[in-house]
Amino acid sequence: MSMDIGKFHFEQPVFLAPMAGVTDTAYRIIAHDMGCPLCYAEMVSSQGIHFRNERTLEMLKTEPEERPIAMQIFANTPAMAAEAAKYVEDLGMADILDFNMGCPAPKIVKNGEGSALMREPAKAFAILSAIRRAVKMPFTVKMRKGWDDDNVNVLEIAKLAEEAGVDAIAVHGRTREQFYRDNADWEIIAAVKQMVNVPVIANGDVRSCADLKKIFAVTGADGVMIGRAAQGNPWIFRQLTHYLQTGEELPGPTMQERAEVILRHLDLLLKYKGDYVGPREMRKHATWYTRGIKHGAILRDRFNKAETRQDFVDIIDEFF
Ligand SMILES: Cc1cc2nc3c(=O)[nH]c(=O)nc-3n(C[C@H](O)[C@H](O)[C@H](O)COP(=O)(O)O)c2cc1C
Repeated sequence: MSMDIGKFHFEQPVFLAPMAGVTDTAYRIIAHDMGCPLCYAEMVSSQGIHFRNERTLEMLKTEPEERPIAMQIFANTPAMAAEAAKYVEDLGMADILDFNMGCPAPKIVKNGEGSALMREPAKAFAILSAIRRAVKMPFTVKMRKGWDDDNVNVLEIAKLAEEAGVDAIAVHGRTREQFYRDNADWEIIAAVKQMVNVPVIANGDVRSCADLKKIFAVTGADGVMIGRAAQGNPWIFRQLTHYLQTGEELPGPTMQERAEVILRHLDLLLKYKGDYVGPREMRKHATWYTRGIKHGAILRDRFNKAETRQDFVDIIDEFF
């Protein structure tokens, strides 16, 4: 099991899916340490890049220890997309460029961005072609099954993406209308894989080694992308990559390991986001890290009030 994206070769192609508010530098460094060979960053607005929005530009920063890394942009015109792609390439802080055609959020869709492009094949093709002309770096696109059940057009759009010259296609097996509900349709990913000659990354509902085995078997995809199952669970990359190498399932983290990684994650957030934002962003991660453990509800309530590193240390000392 291995795949290439442009010049990059991945022996165990289990990637971190892009997640806004989750896959920032801090989490990507942790996922990378746990064996994730390629992390996708949070989606970045092309308009934000165009207007040199400070917070947008901050999101484009990466660290040497997380390379290679994929940076995802979203846009609604070929010119805006090409300009943003070129900016990312020239900055030299990312290795792979990804284009978002999957985000279902109303404010994005209303703007004609994200999964809205699943309704506009000609525009999607024009955007992907413009990006391809603008940059030399490896370039991937992430798309959904379609807009809704009456508009399942991922096959058409994947074919157009291939024609536009993308190096790989990631497919989330849900329509826009489904958001994150129901089960992802892996059969449609299989159909995409059958149709295109570029590598395909399957996405949706992979949470365990058994799921990994099954999604590869059903879809024939070249790689997979893990989203929600990686929230508060970077160990999933250690487990899945180890499983691909050996067929063996590793146990989950011990309480000790969880405590260590929570504090490491917090320290990284403090470093990159500062003393005010860092602990506040850590609250949701801490909640995810402690899913399924004893006294969960009380613990989460305490995490949600934590304001300093010491607060997190005290909670861990008390409960772990
Ligand atoms: C909190 C959250 C944020 C997300 N942000 C993005 C994003 O910025 N770009 C993107 O292409 N997909 C985004 N997604 C979708 C995921 O990349 C992935 O396609 C989806 O969660 C399905 O995979 P899963 O079942 O493994 O979670 C997001 C999903 C979640 C849950």
